Amino acid sequence: MPDLSTTYLGLNLSSPLVPSASPLSRSLDNIKRMEDAGAAAVVFYSLFEEQINHESQELDFYLSRGTQSFAEALTYFPEPREFTLTPDQYLEHVRQAKAAVSVPIIASLNGVSSGGWIKYARKIEEAGADALELNMYFVSTDADTRGDVLEDMYVDLLVDVQRTVKIPVAVKLSPFFTSLPHTAQRLVRAGARGLVLFNRFYQPDFDLEALEVVVRPQLSTLHTPQALRLPLRWIAILYNRLPVDFALTSGVHTAEDAIKGVMAGASITMMASELLKNGIGRLTAIKADMHRWLEEHEYESVTQMRGSMSQKSVAFPAAFERAHYMRALTGYELPNT
Ligand SMILES: Cc1cc2nc3c(=O)[nH]c(=O)nc-3n(C[C@H](O)[C@H](O)[C@H](O)COP(=O)(O)O)c2cc1C
Repeated sequence: MPDLSTTYLGLNLSSPLVPSASPLSRSLDNIKRMEDAGAAAVVFYSLFEEQINHESQELDFYLSRGTQSFAEALTYFPEPREFTLTPDQYLEHVRQAKAAVSVPIIASLNGVSSGGWIKYARKIEEAGADALELNMYFVSTDADTRGDVLEDMYVDLLVDVQRTVKIPVAVKLSPFFTSLPHTAQRLVRAGARGLVLFNRFYQPDFDLEALEVVVRPQLSTLHTPQALRLPLRWIAILYNRLPVDFALTSGVHTAEDAIKGVMAGASITMMASELLKNGIGRLTAIKADMHRWLEEHEYESVTQMRGSMSQKSVAFPAAFERAHYMRALTGYELPNT
């Protein structure tokens, strides 16, 4: 039987199949079911900087950046009671999950600014988490804030978190950087052991009848292949060029999607939408399909295929990218009408 085992952030994992941060990890029962279904590790849903600061009334960052009015800005944030668990309950949940399952637990902190809230990184470590995913999500709406200032902010936050803990830290990033390789390199030099590509930025819709902004997370589907192609492409470009593990998140729904991720260079391929929509049992089916695919294609292990479709041997990746772009546009055949 082909060997699906992999390593990520120094953790030995039975396969690259890992549920990414989602509400599924809110219940202990689901965490156990994910382990039973074959999850190699479980990433917890995020604990938010604002959620922690709300308790200690330290909302300075958002209230001083790009907002005119302190009082109005406060009203944008969810009330503490709208979160399922308080920060301390989150820690207790990590403790209970560690006692209940033997797969690694990767906790998730979601924030953008350095500050007192970072002490929760150490508390998460003390609660037993095997690693920490740091989700940095900030949409700049201020024309006076330069990109490098925001990148400095991300690096500073990572450095501060790194100082606080000994467990490995991975950074979940968005794809929206002018030079993603440079930002990635800065984060790796600052100590990131893993890069989780990509954070799905929340994209609001409008309800035309109610004239309201619709706040709803979008699930990827089999019919939105672009969700997978973005991280696939960037992992293929960055693989072997930076000393870091890659986790692919976005658009993984089948064994073939996960295999593409590994071939691009991912150590693990994560899933949220597929499990939310079609159930935790999909992990078992996808793992079986992955075994079958490797057998049929005579691969002995996922390690053997890791990075085989990456650009590690391409001497001039930028020219390669541009050439493919030109070919895609000029090679389009018009239908006979
Ligand atoms: C309902 C929902 C909740 C999510 N919550 C979190 C979260 O708390 N932290 C986080 O980093 N990502 C969160 N995500 C993002 C997922 O972890 C994942 O990166 C994203 O959905 C793309 O993967 P997918 O195409 O497999 O869904 C959430 C996604 C969904 C759909």
